[in-house]
Amino acid sequence: MAERLAQIGATFTMHYCTRSSQRTAFRERIAQSQFADRVDFHFDDGPADQKLDLSNVLGAPTSDVNVYICGPTGFIEHVLKSAKALGWPDSQLHLEYFGAKPIDTSHDEDFEVKVASTGRCYKVPADKSVAAVLIENGIDIPLSCEQGVCGTCITRILDGQPDHRDMYFTSDEKAKNDQFTPCCSRSKGKLLVLDI
Ligand code: FES
Repeated sequence: MAERLAQIGATFTMHYCTRSSQRTAFRERIAQSQFADRVDFHFDDGPADQKLDLSNVLGAPTSDVNVYICGPTGFIEHVLKSAKALGWPDSQLHLEYFGAKPIDTSHDEDFEVKVASTGRCYKVPADKSVAAVLIENGIDIPLSCEQGVCGTCITRILDGQPDHRDMYFTSDEKAKNDQFTPCCSRSKGKLLVLDI
């Protein structure tokens, strides 16, 4: 992402937190890049004055700045909490989790999905994802993480209420119920009509 931003001449600063300089992926690549002077490293085992100071780094929100956060869940939640406390709106905070939280699937039930373009319905059993059922029936759903993290499988919904289980959409986007991630999200009702 930093390489692309540098390539298109975008203004950015990257803050990279790791346990130690020895355990920092891409350290050499970053040091040799054209954007090396725009990367601040923060090492857990380093001196206090180089640790990530979020209130200073984030500051007050400005409408032309976006914050992109990736990492383990605990780290993301820490940054999000700090950003929200400083007044940053959801629309300017973008996340990519390195892994999804475990989900309790013990109460999952069957439901049906209807493909709007053909009118055909498919049963989604409790132990299968919507994406798996559609793919088995020859319907192409692009997949990547299969954990509700990346957004690759996003599918529009024409009717029904999804049971959102992803970590990709913001709470505002989830509340609209007009799209979902079929790799992991399910249905709250007996039928979901999909715009495919
Ligand atoms: S494949 Fe990544 S969110 Fe569905």
